[in-house]
Amino acid sequence: MAFTFLKEIFRDYKVGAITKSSRFVVKKVLSEIKASDKLIVEYGPGDGVVTKPLLKILSKEAQIISIEPNANFYKKLKKIRDKRLILINGYAGKTEDEIKQADVVISSIPFTLMSKKEREEVIKFTHKTLKPRGKFVVYQYSTLVSPLLKKYFKTVNISLEIRNFPPYFFMVCTK
Ligand SMILES: C[S@@+](CC[C@H](N)C(=O)[O-])C[C@H]1O[C@@H](n2cnc3c(N)ncnc32)[C@H](O)[C@@H]1O
Repeated sequence: MAFTFLKEIFRDYKVGAITKSSRFVVKKVLSEIKASDKLIVEYGPGDGVVTKPLLKILSKEAQIISIEPNANFYKKLKKIRDKRLILINGYAGKTEDEIKQADVVISSIPFTLMSKKEREEVIKFTHKTLKPRGKFVVYQYSTLVSPLLKKYFKTVNISLEIRNFPPYFFMVCTK
């Protein structure tokens, strides 16, 4: 499975990682989700490493909207048979106008590979998409976007998960 990421990053640099997230990263993402959450949006699900366990902890009424631009990952994600999962083959920040009142937005997209304007667009759209006190959970190899996150969100808590290669910074933001 790690090989898939390696193969994809050579074809599509926007994949932004040489391997999928470790189980420690997945656990940390899941710790930000409540079983009662009804709408989760995921930017850049990759092969579904977070999506699949997320479906296990959410209720029958919940929904996940996962947005993935990479065609091969999108094909893999299509194999997940769960009515609660809505897949969009596209880019974060371009489709949120149709998404309203999300409880949590999860993002592992490589903001470092985007222009400043694109980064701000995604963050601004995300803020609009979330319901009051909703959470934006960002994990990244750098804290480059933290000033922008602080511009839009009330609180931004930063921590480091070293049990991943390379380690990930977590930036958990509250609207
Ligand atoms: C670092 S990988 C993380 C994959 C997976 N979520 C994980 O934790 O292992 C980033 C993913 O974001 C996707 N991606 C890159 N740019 C994106 C964008 N603008 N909108 C949505 N997804 C994007 C990539 O195709 C890739 O699947």
